[in-house]
Amino acid sequence: MKPSAPPQTYRVKSFGCQMNVYDGERMGELLAERGIMPAPEGEDADLVILNTCHIREKAAEKVYSDIGRLVFAGKQAGKQPLIAVAGCVAQAEGEEIMQRAPAVSIVVGPQAYHRLPEMLDKAVRGKRATDTDMPAIAKFDALPARAKRGPSAFLTVQEGCDKFCTYCVVPYTRGAEISRPFSHLVAEAHKLVEAGAKEIMLLGQNVNAWAGEDDKGRRTGLGGLIRTLAQIDGLARIRYTTSHPNDMDDDLIAAHGEVEKLMPYLHLPVQAGSDRILKAMNRQHTAESYLRVIQRFRAVRPDIALSGDFIVGFPGETEGEFEDTLSIVDEVRYAACFSFKYSPRPGTPAASMDGQIAPQVMDERLKRLQARLAHHQYAFNQSSIGKRCEVLVERIGRHPGQWLGKSPWLQSVHFQGDHAIGDLVEVTLAEAGPNSLKGLVRNGATLLA
Ligand code: 5AD
Ligand code: SF4
Repeated sequence: MKPSAPPQTYRVKSFGCQMNVYDGERMGELLAERGIMPAPEGEDADLVILNTCHIREKAAEKVYSDIGRLVFAGKQAGKQPLIAVAGCVAQAEGEEIMQRAPAVSIVVGPQAYHRLPEMLDKAVRGKRATDTDMPAIAKFDALPARAKRGPSAFLTVQEGCDKFCTYCVVPYTRGAEISRPFSHLVAEAHKLVEAGAKEIMLLGQNVNAWAGEDDKGRRTGLGGLIRTLAQIDGLARIRYTTSHPNDMDDDLIAAHGEVEKLMPYLHLPVQAGSDRILKAMNRQHTAESYLRVIQRFRAVRPDIALSGDFIVGFPGETEGEFEDTLSIVDEVRYAACFSFKYSPRPGTPAASMDGQIAPQVMDERLKRLQARLAHHQYAFNQSSIGKRCEVLVERIGRHPGQWLGKSPWLQSVHFQGDHAIGDLVEVTLAEAGPNSLKGLVRNGATLLA
């Protein structure tokens, strides 16, 4: 590899989950500290970071084709960018990437990206750099202050997973569960609010497994952290994702009935409705124990919107077992959902299980499941008509004078008026579509359509 000029501009391409988006932002902040700025829209960057996801599909293949595309574009432009591969594919397949893709200068895992600046120095000198260590807390300590972002900000509170669902790579790519210390999180939340955040989304692969000691040295869980963050002036909304049903405790559930800033929305994946499949997935809960958790939330917060993740076509899934998934969907009546075809991940127990399901069967099941989920989402949106609520303005809409924002139930709402990004606007939800709602803003005596 030849030495190159130090990069002046960067671009991060984040794939996959919100934690990758958070990590991508933090990498950007690290680079900005070094004077390396985001490449202007439409211009090639000197440094491209592919922040990859390994959770489904042919993740690694996608990385190689992205690298190929960058090399090709570099040839056309007469200038190759420095290429870094970050995220979970880097963690899982770093060595192979270095061997197969000579154009890659840096491979950096999700727990090591705080060392990106030193790795970059090395790359500029013409030496390739790999770091897939897992010292998670050290990473957070080494990151710079938060930069100004939009009205809704991510805050990683917990990382990693000890659950080892048999289909999932996360325990291998993100490592064991770790919780960031209470005081660090409160400080970062204050910084985010000072930088303009109105809403904070607490992130973790098992966010509700977060545990720590509060400022008085008492053991506390996510509910306690949320109660403390709710005291921050200027912070209007708190959300969290993703939870595991078995890590729900009484205090977190109670917080949903007590903390006004905690939004009435819960992402609680169940994955499947059949107890046999849940056991084969090593989910460590049954359909019934999951439904009991949901009932407890509904008891304290009857209007709570629920969302979940589903996998169709897990090895051995019969038609009847798939129908159990449809039944649980009907029972919960989710407001939003994410559904996936099972994808065998290298190194996971499910990948070598008997009874892998044919792609056509998976396609057909996914279609049926998505139709059912869409039905409930639409019904949920329709049931919101007539409600008054605040919408957090996130961006300008497509039509003149139109704004887009989120309801407390995380629905997209569009409305008219004289607003600004970051405003909390009170609207009446007036019309519902499958994916969004129309809000009316009271302006004097009239409602603006
Ligand atoms: N195949 C399909 N979906 C998966 N997920 C995780 N691993 C796999 C896999 N191997 C889904 C789960 C999880 C979400 C983040 O991704 O539904 O909750
Ligand atoms: Fe993966 Fe299961 Fe852990 Fe979620 S709980 S990250 S699905 S192993």
